[in-house]
Amino acid sequence: MKLTEREFNWIVSYMHNRYGIELGHKRVLIEGRLENYLLKNGYSSYSEFIRKIADSPNGAEAMDMINILTTNHTFFMREFMHFEYLNDYVLPWIRQSKAGTKDVRVWSAAASTGEEPYTIAMVLRDYFGMEPGWDTQLLATDISMEVLKKASDGIYLQEQIQNLPERWKRQYFKRIDAEHFQVSSELRKQIVFRKFNLMDDITFKGRFQVVFLRNVMIYFEDETKSFLLNNIYDHMETGGYLFIGTTESIDKVKSGFQYVRPSIYRKV
Ligand SMILES: C[S@@+](CC[C@H](N)C(=O)[O-])C[C@H]1O[C@@H](n2cnc3c(N)ncnc32)[C@H](O)[C@@H]1O
Repeated sequence: MKLTEREFNWIVSYMHNRYGIELGHKRVLIEGRLENYLLKNGYSSYSEFIRKIADSPNGAEAMDMINILTTNHTFFMREFMHFEYLNDYVLPWIRQSKAGTKDVRVWSAAASTGEEPYTIAMVLRDYFGMEPGWDTQLLATDISMEVLKKASDGIYLQEQIQNLPERWKRQYFKRIDAEHFQVSSELRKQIVFRKFNLMDDITFKGRFQVVFLRNVMIYFEDETKSFLLNNIYDHMETGGYLFIGTTESIDKVKSGFQYVRPSIYRKV
């Protein structure tokens, strides 16, 4: 099946305008991922698929395209120093500053298949576990419904959890068959999974003390990044921490965040 220049440009603009995702140099990725889907679903051309999406931007085909064209690679304990920093510096600050309300507000803003929010949830439990009254529910969002479904099911292959500490595996995972483990219902309930497009205005109630925005801005151009960072800044508490991917960067001056150490920023 041939992807014409016009069809390619349409897909690139659509993903850019609606989701901030830059695919202008990703022709091979687009063709490689979409062709199989089109053939399997009986399309005879890219145009036929594009017409469906244009007619119904929130329809099933549009959702399928997001699921197919987003890159969802993630794993447990990724960039582990963030979780150590969370435990050693951020949670002590929250324990002190929120001693009155005991309300912990953490957002995993590109949660993918759940490995990141579950790692955060385990750190939170370790830290606040024995202390009564702390509300440690966290919010995990992504644009792809497919990954959110996987995340909320919380089912992983043995290899995917092999590097977790033994105690976490024992405490938070249950073997469900020869190859798979499921996250305990207790931990799953600690996370609220929601679909959210980072290009949209944030409408979640309250302000966050911690935001994980890791390995998603790499797909965004500068203007989208600035919009998103301002948006997040406005929805964080003063003193709150922002974690970004270790290969990502932000413009401190424009965003207002204070640099703490590589990939860790603070709202001052
Ligand atoms: C590479 S994963 C990062 C997962 C995790 N944060 C980590 O660092 O391992 C990037 C995720 O960002 C999501 N994403 C891309 N564009 C988005 C947008 N506009 N709004 C919300 N999520 C988006 C993708 O669906 C994907 O699951």
